[in-house]
Amino acid sequence: MSAQIIDGKKIAAEVRVEVKKQVTQRIAAGKRSPGLAVILIGDNPASQVYVNNKQKACDEVGFLSRSYHLPANTEQSALLETIKQLNEDNNIDGILVQLPLPEHIDASAVIEHIHPNKDVDGFHPTNIGKLMLRNPVLRPCTPYGIMHLLDVTGETYKGRHAVIVGASNIVGRPMVMELLLAGATVTVCHRFTRNTPELVAKADIVIAAVGKVNLVKGDWIKDGATVIDVGINRLDNGKLAGDVEFDIAKQKATWISPVPGGVGPMTVAMLMKNTLAACNLNEAS
Ligand code: GUN
Repeated sequence: MSAQIIDGKKIAAEVRVEVKKQVTQRIAAGKRSPGLAVILIGDNPASQVYVNNKQKACDEVGFLSRSYHLPANTEQSALLETIKQLNEDNNIDGILVQLPLPEHIDASAVIEHIHPNKDVDGFHPTNIGKLMLRNPVLRPCTPYGIMHLLDVTGETYKGRHAVIVGASNIVGRPMVMELLLAGATVTVCHRFTRNTPELVAKADIVIAAVGKVNLVKGDWIKDGATVIDVGINRLDNGKLAGDVEFDIAKQKATWISPVPGGVGPMTVAMLMKNTLAACNLNEAS
């Protein structure tokens, strides 16, 4: 058996087309374009690529985008002041601070400073809490995008066993909430888990989100499982690879997402969807 490939690039493009359509309708109705502010601190090369992709997507869907590239030694107080001004700016609906931040900056304090209705990353405790309480408003983009990929496969996840490898704030933890909300039975494996291979072998759905090449071995995968690979790892030869041993896992899975071209483009597409949702939210409030 060889799995069907989940084409995240194509599915993300369809999401962006839908967002663009709604932006065009807003403009035709005399309303303004949604606005996204992206803040990057320092010179992390991967973060620079991600931020560029986010800005390109804004241009494509017709958003106003503003970018703030601040030096690595920026004081936390200066960053908080920038966020405060953006919270008060009526042309800006979404504020995104690219993570990771330099060590001298407290990421939690920064995230909590963003107004929850402008938190298009869905990382603010208010938005995480709402997702946890089954009342999601702005949802973390990567797990939200993964749910969209799973929807497109047409496989049901109600009552199925999902195993998430990785318990980060950005992916693993909100992924639990999304899958639970959708009716899956969820297990999370993390650095202290003693039997990750056995747990993965029981999974109908595997979500690998650790950031280590080939951490999830292909022969762990159950026949017929759906495999979503969130890892984006740069190899010595410059190529990108995921967390899953793709060539072997592909022989066992029914569906598998590739790296690149799987989850990555979905994160950006869902950011566009969230910014449009935030724009509607901010106009209504
Ligand atoms: N760094 C890695 N992924 C993300 C993301 O989804 N949002 C932000 N702000 N930073 C990230």
